[in-house]
Amino acid sequence: MTDGQQRPPAAAVFDALGADYEKAFAGSPAHRRSLEWLLGRLAPGSRVLDVGSGTGRPTAETLAGAGHRVVGVDVSPVMVELAARQVPDASFRCADIRDVPLADGSFDAVCVYFALLQLDRREQTDVVRRLARALTPSGHMVLATVPLDVEGVDATFMGQSVRVTSFTAPGLVAVAEDAGLEVLEREELLFTPAHPDAGPEPHVFLHCRRRTTATPDA
Ligand SMILES: C[S@@+](CC[C@H](N)C(=O)[O-])C[C@H]1O[C@@H](n2cnc3c(N)ncnc32)[C@H](O)[C@@H]1O
Repeated sequence: MTDGQQRPPAAAVFDALGADYEKAFAGSPAHRRSLEWLLGRLAPGSRVLDVGSGTGRPTAETLAGAGHRVVGVDVSPVMVELAARQVPDASFRCADIRDVPLADGSFDAVCVYFALLQLDRREQTDVVRRLARALTPSGHMVLATVPLDVEGVDATFMGQSVRVTSFTAPGLVAVAEDAGLEVLEREELLFTPAHPDAGPEPHVFLHCRRRTTATPDA
């Protein structure tokens, strides 16, 4: 980051939350089912990119534990330090996914679990497109978010002030399909994080595969 650039707001929020985030969300059965879905489709030793890798648990830990080569990218230095300590079999990089160069066809799978909510809609759409192109032909992507029709709404999340942007579930499906992904399975549910300030929140998990026909160039 240069002197003229501001630190991304997500970095401050997740630096403050650290391991508390894992305590609140690690019990999600849908997240576990989603990882099982992915594990069932990966060849041994697959290359997996985990975007917004958080504390490394459960995603990187589960996938690296199954023998896959996992690279996590997270904008929060605190999260990256925790993940590197907790999941030594994966590698982690502290960076904003918007700034990370991604070579075409360089990953067999990409995971995006709740990592794009602090980007605006155009940025989320651009990131998903770039991630889809980083997949090998027929590579898999899991996209999970809090499906809401909100843009730049100020909210409080586990005691932290955050600005949130998201899509409805059909809106996220459209983003995935426009990026050249085929949505194979979709799960929607309510999840209540294990945190005193949390109530039930909607979650959507899209289980996708890169279409083998040409993906958009832009
Ligand atoms: C809600 S947490 C989810 C963590 C993990 N994916 C999980 O589901 O357990 C979102 C994570 O994405 C990271 N993040 C947010 N915006 C990011 C960005 N632009 N680039 C990289 N990481 C980002 C945050 O620092 C945080 O660790």
